[in-house]
Amino acid sequence: MNPIWIEKYRPANLSEIFGQDDNVSRLKAFVKSRELPHLIFSGPAGTGKTSAAMAVAIELFGESWKENFLELNASNNRGINVIRGHEDREKSDRQVSVKDYARIMPNNPLGFKIIFMDEADQLTPDAQAALRRTMEIYSSTTRFIFSVNYSSQIIPPIQSRCVVMRFRLVAPDDMKKKLRYIAEKEKLTVDDEVLDVIAEESEGDLRKALNIFQSAHFAGKITPKTIYEISGMVSGNEFRKVLSMALQNGLFNETVDEVENLMVSKGVSGMDVVRGMHSALRRASIDPLVKIKALIALGEAEFRLVEGSSDKIQIDALLARMAEIHASTQGQKE
Ligand SMILES: Nc1ncnc2c1ncn2[C@@H]1O[C@H](COP(=O)(O)OP(=O)(O)OP(=O)(O)O)[C@@H](O)[C@H]1O
Ligand SMILES: [Mg+2]
Repeated sequence: MNPIWIEKYRPANLSEIFGQDDNVSRLKAFVKSRELPHLIFSGPAGTGKTSAAMAVAIELFGESWKENFLELNASNNRGINVIRGHEDREKSDRQVSVKDYARIMPNNPLGFKIIFMDEADQLTPDAQAALRRTMEIYSSTTRFIFSVNYSSQIIPPIQSRCVVMRFRLVAPDDMKKKLRYIAEKEKLTVDDEVLDVIAEESEGDLRKALNIFQSAHFAGKITPKTIYEISGMVSGNEFRKVLSMALQNGLFNETVDEVENLMVSKGVSGMDVVRGMHSALRRASIDPLVKIKALIALGEAEFRLVEGSSDKIQIDALLARMAEIHASTQGQKE
């Protein structure tokens, strides 16, 4: 059978977590001291939060880590029952409650076990309040690690009991390190260019990178083109073309048509267009003043789209702004 790479190549220890150096060295220090505070891992998807929690457990408990590590997903059951466990559990709880697990005495020399709660920011405030009491009652035998996208969604009394570690988007070089490692293990020869494309398309999400990589491998051909097809994204080339039409050639109507075509035929959203143009613009070597003005325009468009404005109107406005930027620099040259 073909196991999925995100599981097959999950880091087996803290040294295999890439690009989160500060967090890794602090976690290693905890492991060395055989102690662990409650932790909040905060950061975007696919950056190593779950992997780091597992790696800590592996390093602390060795072979028996699975008996001393409970993984719960808060978003499956956001209410209080996941914390307390209740009469109607058969109906509502598909998983062990935190309290049930916390009550069992740890079976290891360290005297505590770990409860890892994924997507803890999805818990209702009531559930978090119950959790806080559970943390207090079982503090000598249980350590909590909460994984969240935004730590601000965690109630202050829990936050203040935890050490917060922020996980950053995984940098392209760190992604490529892992992709190369997998290529070697799977005995694949892959061009560096392909790895660049995967790293670019996955935008700091290493899970996404591994999934794209494995899908391309299944598809039988690992080329930049297949990567773009699989990731369902418009290639960087197409955005580069749009940018040069808008900013360097000042072709307003043509650019509008081109972008509309991308949005309709490839189903990309206004936000995809803004992100794609942003990533292409950052790499573009063009007049710095044009670049600055265009980046400001992109930032404004992104803000409006996040606020829920119409894709079509905002993208047209953005392209109009770019035409204006082009026109203003033409004036200066004459
Ligand atoms: N920093 C990293 N170093 C090495 N591998 C990583 C890293 N981040 C992610 N991975 C790889 O990507 C997969 C997914 O990572 P993980 O589950 O740890 O992400 P996560 O931060 O918990 O994401 P989510 O917020 O979606 O739960 C892992 O199996 C691992 O192979
Ligand atoms: Mg996770």
